[in-house]
Amino acid sequence: MAAPMHSSPGTVPAGGHASAPTLPRHFLQLKDFTRDELEHVFARTRRIKEQFKRYEPYHPLFDRTLVMIFEKQSTRTRLSFEAGMHQLGGAAIFLSTRDSQLGRGEPVEDAAQVISRMCDIVMIRTFEQDIIERFARHSRVPVINGLTNEYHPCQILADIYTFLEHRGPIAGKTVAWIGDSNNVCNTWLQAAEVFGFNVHVSTPPGYEVEPERAGLFGTDHFEAFADPIDAVRGADLVTTDVWTSMGFEAENEARRRAFADWQVDADMMRLAAPDALFMHCLPAHRGEEVAAEVIDGPQSVVWDEAENRLHTQKALMEYLLLGRVNS
Ligand code: CP
Ligand code: NVA
Repeated sequence: MAAPMHSSPGTVPAGGHASAPTLPRHFLQLKDFTRDELEHVFARTRRIKEQFKRYEPYHPLFDRTLVMIFEKQSTRTRLSFEAGMHQLGGAAIFLSTRDSQLGRGEPVEDAAQVISRMCDIVMIRTFEQDIIERFARHSRVPVINGLTNEYHPCQILADIYTFLEHRGPIAGKTVAWIGDSNNVCNTWLQAAEVFGFNVHVSTPPGYEVEPERAGLFGTDHFEAFADPIDAVRGADLVTTDVWTSMGFEAENEARRRAFADWQVDADMMRLAAPDALFMHCLPAHRGEEVAAEVIDGPQSVVWDEAENRLHTQKALMEYLLLGRVNS
């Protein structure tokens, strides 16, 4: 029986060949991790990013395999996980519903059993959160949420790290979310509870935050505003996302009409704090949820956000597979 190459409490190496398997840790929602764990991931991100920029090889995941399952499209998530695993010394395999048995009705529980016997870590982008929860319950290895209808925790990991790089700790700050109360918004709201900051949300009527769906413990860290102007006033960070998320395309026209007054433009940004940042998870639609002058303007940090997907997810995979590595 092969011995595991690394001590990784909470995980079982590929094929589950450890003698006394324990339940793996997963990252299915942001609040699955404590603030202390997330801060550890950020500390490791800083170190891993610095080493990478200096071209210093770091291959702690040599011989480890990441399987990436995509039921929705992606540019950033696929690229950052695939490149990230390669840079850590491991390999990444891409599976989509189009070209695997997942698209032909194989039960998600069976897929989880099989896939997790052949790899060390799994990333899934899918529809309902329930699908990834079921997969994780039957997986021998850590599962990462690469976006569901409800949450996008890897995105907010990168966003908060980006805020930290530009402005320092986010605790006590105010984030203004303008637009749809979608997966990215829900994850910002969870992050506000974990890190202790406030989110001012403004959505059109009928698209309001549903605290239960967002997985919130309470409502202490967010406030809803009917008028987006009131939500951005004094904010340290203004952020938005597409009006129609993947999976909701049938609502496109209705949403276009409903969200017309929820575009983040320069007039709106002028009401935020003078040093406010602008973020967008991308892909963006200039002229819809954001004006070109904002996303391409001096307050925008969208390219840093996108790049930091790579570095934060490398730290996340290191943590899930190897536990706490000292910097
Ligand atoms: N922000 C984000 O997750 O982008 P992709 O859909 O390109 O992965
Ligand atoms: N809310 C968007 C995010 C894309 C990265 C979607 O789910 O389509």
